[in-house]
Amino acid sequence: MDVNQTIDTFTSFFREHDHQQIPSSSLVPPPGDPVLFTTSGMHPLTRYIEGRPHPLGRRLTGLQRCLRTTDLDETGDDSHLTVFQMLGSWSLGDYDGPQSLRWGHELLTGGLGVNPGLLYATVFGGDGQVGPDVGSQRTWTELGVPVELTSGEENWWSNGPTGPCGPDSEIFVWTGQQPPSGSPMTDDRWVELWNHVTMRYRRLDDGSLIPLDQPSVDTGMGLERLLMVLQGRRSVFDTDIFRPWRSELPGLWQLDERTLRITSDHLRAGIAIIGDGVLPSSTGRGYVLRRLLRRVLTLLWRDDSSRSVGDLPTVLIEHTLDRFGQGTEVGLVRGVLGGEQRRFGELLVRGRKVLGQLKSPGRLTETDLRYLHETHGLPPELVTELLTGQQVTIDR
Ligand code: GLY
Repeated sequence: MDVNQTIDTFTSFFREHDHQQIPSSSLVPPPGDPVLFTTSGMHPLTRYIEGRPHPLGRRLTGLQRCLRTTDLDETGDDSHLTVFQMLGSWSLGDYDGPQSLRWGHELLTGGLGVNPGLLYATVFGGDGQVGPDVGSQRTWTELGVPVELTSGEENWWSNGPTGPCGPDSEIFVWTGQQPPSGSPMTDDRWVELWNHVTMRYRRLDDGSLIPLDQPSVDTGMGLERLLMVLQGRRSVFDTDIFRPWRSELPGLWQLDERTLRITSDHLRAGIAIIGDGVLPSSTGRGYVLRRLLRRVLTLLWRDDSSRSVGDLPTVLIEHTLDRFGQGTEVGLVRGVLGGEQRRFGELLVRGRKVLGQLKSPGRLTETDLRYLHETHGLPPELVTELLTGQQVTIDR
């Protein structure tokens, strides 16, 4: 099943169950929102989950572009991406969590064709404030899916330190070559596929929980990870979504597998962020974009300083904007990428000069780092990068 068939199978299933399809919101949340980027399918729906009526009704489905920088260090492994799409379904004070799980099971094992014998579920096991999620546990047992109760935050979902939150039930699928063994908590060949959250509470500033007037259900399933499973691939980078990257980049730059993955991921994320109107800067969203692009350039220039993101084939920019439903001009994206490359190149030249003039570059203090950042625009991570290969001590 290719990417478009997969999306269609998901959204059609929920439309057949009276859900209205909503368009993807921007990666940039509206003014006043405390987060830098949209990190989940439910984020744009926060106020409706808090009780405001949604103009399209109480049952919704959709595909939302999301960006997470919390997983940045894991990029390059088989399943983490900086920018990705999340398939979702929502009950805004309508049906309950067990109904959502039953539909989830029907869709996975029916239309999406996942072998039911390869599923495992986890459920909130309770803590000092909230009891165990026995409704979900009972539903999985009735459906014949093995279920594991977890402790702590493992099966608790919130969109931030305050706001709507609640217990979740996560559906895992077995990706090992041998028959399934262990459980999601003991064997990482169980890959998390779909999260069903029962939004029952609102967390206040003091950490306490109050019940929401109308409990809702929020589900989210990463599209790329689902494709990895459905297409029987080792990693998200081997699904059809990354086919153009896999076919174009090796002809341009010779990169090892991990560098190829990080480069594809960060450039794709950079294009999508620019596609939603963000420009590189030294703070906030623009700084996230800057760091992603500079990380790519550092990797590319490690082996060959003549490499240029200006050579990036147009088809990759078009494919990315298209994937995320963005109408931004390719020329604009190319201009932003090129501008940031030029600024970074100049900064490196200046940085090497400044560091060469330091009395003892081998021994830097916090004050040196602050001086280099504030006076010369050299952030600490760049200083460390420029001094790679030299004996350096940073006194903190
Ligand atoms: N909103 C559920 C999730 O992102 O996993």
